[in-house]
Amino acid sequence: MPKLNDDLMRCAREAASLSYSPYSQFKVGAAVRWSDGTVTSGTNVENASYPVSVCAERHAVAFGVCSGLRELVAVAVWADVDEPLSPCGACRQVLLEFAPNPETVPVLMGCRGDSREMNLGELIPAGFRTVPKP
Ligand code: THU
Repeated sequence: MPKLNDDLMRCAREAASLSYSPYSQFKVGAAVRWSDGTVTSGTNVENASYPVSVCAERHAVAFGVCSGLRELVAVAVWADVDEPLSPCGACRQVLLEFAPNPETVPVLMGCRGDSREMNLGELIPAGFRTVPKP
């Protein structure tokens, strides 16, 4: 894995350490690299009203969008578990919104002692769009 992606995974792992997950005890962190090189991160933030909880990936994307960023180029997710975390369907759809060419966006999936990589196009083939690619 190239160094830049190691850094992105480290960032996701650090974000997971801030997870607010008293209900699931499932700590997730995500980091997104944007086209200008900026990296934003996020973690899962749960709520007593369970469906209101926000996933780490969506948190990381919203953070970037709030900074005026619109095109992501790489994603890392990390969970404090034994199998690499595969992003949930809702998060795949949100990532797609900001990926003009999903096949070129690596999604690095990590956990304690293991990792794997797929591109976003593989994770959400023929994804739903209503507006032209950003
Ligand atoms: N979670 C994420 O943060 N990202 C995913 O892609 C899958 C699930 C969170 C939501 C919830 O806080 C916990 O993991 C257990 O589902």
